[in-house]
Amino acid sequence: MADETDSDRLKEAADWLRSARHVVVFTGAGISAESGIPTFRDAAGLWTEFPPDQFATWQGIMAVAAKSPGRLARFLIALLEPLAEARPNAAHAAVAALEKHTRVTVVTQNIDGLHQEAGSSRVLQVHGTLLEVVDRTGQLVRRLTRDDLRTIVARLRRMTDQPARSVLLPWAIRPMAGLRPRGTYRPRIVLFGDAMAEPDWSQAMEAAEACDCVLSIGTSRTVMPAAMLPSQARAAGATVIEVGPDACTGDICLRGKAGDIVPALVALAHK
Ligand code: OAD
Repeated sequence: MADETDSDRLKEAADWLRSARHVVVFTGAGISAESGIPTFRDAAGLWTEFPPDQFATWQGIMAVAAKSPGRLARFLIALLEPLAEARPNAAHAAVAALEKHTRVTVVTQNIDGLHQEAGSSRVLQVHGTLLEVVDRTGQLVRRLTRDDLRTIVARLRRMTDQPARSVLLPWAIRPMAGLRPRGTYRPRIVLFGDAMAEPDWSQAMEAAEACDCVLSIGTSRTVMPAAMLPSQARAAGATVIEVGPDACTGDICLRGKAGDIVPALVALAHK
């Protein structure tokens, strides 16, 4: 928040936040970047090394598993290891603290569970969660802890250390995905081509229609239909505040890191 213009914008955003009766906090990978989880589309993002056409569809993942299990293991380590070690950061905590002052619906594209861990009570996970395993009908099979993720990563590492062990892939990921007598099971996540997670997505659209302020944090707004949520809310009369390092299309743009800006914004709105 270097110059006066930045502080003017922060103050204006704080005024909107203070007067709002229902705030939708819309988040993407950027809010978890300072918890050590890589984003998707930044230079060091997951999709840079692991292209989404291969790693963001079930079909692509199955093809990589058949052709190159070691590469799938490396992708899974890159995805799971930061998640296993992640803790909520100051931005997650500030979002949770906002609930003390106004009605808040968190709509997240993230699958990391960090909003709930920070204390947010109403979180809609429109791309699902990696911390729940479901069967083919969507019924919960089990919940995964961060320790479970650590176990999977340790097994995958043993595999990648010795390529001859790639036959161990099904064993390594067994807590999270595989076959059982009544069919397959896998994480409750949304990949490209899947329907959005329900009832979360329908409830998110309702919240967008009903809210008077959207606080959008750390998203490139590229993946539809989630990315249309702020503009949907804006069309229904809400003010959109955007937080992130990139240029933005919201009513108020707060440029910088979520971990710096969101705590400052919430503190100013509700001193
Ligand atoms: P992206 O990787 O597309 O965008 C992350 C955004 O966060 C970028 O605009 C970054 O500039 C910004 N950012 C980085 N560090 C930040 C920080 N410290 N504070 C604030 N912002 C920061 O991630 P998403 O927009 O979440 O979906 O991606 C949306 C979807 O694309 C994901 O849910 C996933 C992915 O493919 C599926 O796989 C279905």
